[in-house]
Amino acid sequence: MPTTDGSQEKTLAALGVTKPDEVAPLFAELLLRAHAGLQSANSADAFEKFRVQWLGRKAGVLTLVTDNWLKPASPELKRAVGQELNKFKAQLEAQMAERGAAIESGAQSAVDAKDRVDLSLPGVARPIGSRHLIRQVFQEIEDIFVSIGFSVVEGPEIETPYYNFEALNIPEFHPVRDDMDTFYVEARTDAGALTPPGSLLLRTHTSPVQIRTMEKRQPPVRVIVPGKVYRRDNPDATHSFMFHQIEGLAVDNDITFCDFTGTIEYFVKQYFGPSVKTRFRPSYFPFTEPSVEFDVSCIFCGGSGTGAGGATCGKCKGSGWIELFGAGMVDPAVYGFVNYDAKRVSGFAFGMGMDRLAMLKYGIDDIQAFFQNDVRFLKQFP
Ligand code: FA5
Repeated sequence: MPTTDGSQEKTLAALGVTKPDEVAPLFAELLLRAHAGLQSANSADAFEKFRVQWLGRKAGVLTLVTDNWLKPASPELKRAVGQELNKFKAQLEAQMAERGAAIESGAQSAVDAKDRVDLSLPGVARPIGSRHLIRQVFQEIEDIFVSIGFSVVEGPEIETPYYNFEALNIPEFHPVRDDMDTFYVEARTDAGALTPPGSLLLRTHTSPVQIRTMEKRQPPVRVIVPGKVYRRDNPDATHSFMFHQIEGLAVDNDITFCDFTGTIEYFVKQYFGPSVKTRFRPSYFPFTEPSVEFDVSCIFCGGSGTGAGGATCGKCKGSGWIELFGAGMVDPAVYGFVNYDAKRVSGFAFGMGMDRLAMLKYGIDDIQAFFQNDVRFLKQFP
């Protein structure tokens, strides 16, 4: 039904209305049209259009009805038209108020629906990280040693040459310092001055924590020390300038070389499994005497030294053995730096390359993989 039929543009006389009782049906018809127009106004825009069409001051239907029906009406009809017009106006306004409210609340619920959280929809999967393999291996190794009475201690990564070298029986100009060339750093003191050159360095091994621990504790001492260390080594498949070590130190009244080998063998069988073979080789560290290197049979070639297709195993370079760490009985000279009685106490120490331990156990052939943060690599060790 069109909103209007144009009757409001004609006078009552032109519409053929001459008696008062013919007025009410005219307004009833008009109300029907208004109602139909209102129902089809479904949005705030359409509602406003309707309002202008019916209530607009210049050419709205009500203005035209007033101008064309009421004003020129004969005195006989005027009263009836006035009454019907007022009734019509009130009805129209009531219907418009109702419709306006409905449109407004519809728009509001559309906004609400947009903001509503639908719990039945699939969620946004957030990738969950995992502990880095190095951290996991630290934990594995710590668990093994803690189970046999060791405790875990840590020390600073920025060290003084005293703890990193001298107190470990490595005096200045000792040739072993060449193997542990490192990064010297400067720091600001509390007073704002720079520390003297050469007075601070990134530790080259976790061994300084042996000294720091013995300074603080009296025997019996049984500790392991996990941590990062730094050396000016060129990166390759088994070397990195920053890597991880786990130090071990046990000092008591009558610790022997047998305690040392028994502890290490126990650890290796726990960590690698019972089938791995182990061996000690004589070595040299200024802070242990005697010193050894500890090797395990190559897990890549099963200790045969021969790789795929009969070629020499690239990992152990054909020897069938892979060096795991350095160790030995604590050199009595070291006890002098920490005020232990070298005649009364004895002990052993070891320093393992954590990254290489992880590489061996998990078959990783390049140490750099640990530091490249490639998620495809990290995801393999959830
Ligand atoms: C030491 O660092 C001694 N502090 C170990 C020690 C402790 C001996 C206590 C006696 C008593 P060495 O320089 O060999 O030793 O290093 C120990 C292990 O660290 C090596 O066996 C190797 O596994 C690892 N390592 C050494 N250099 C690197 C490097 N650049 N990148 C990765 N791993 C390394």
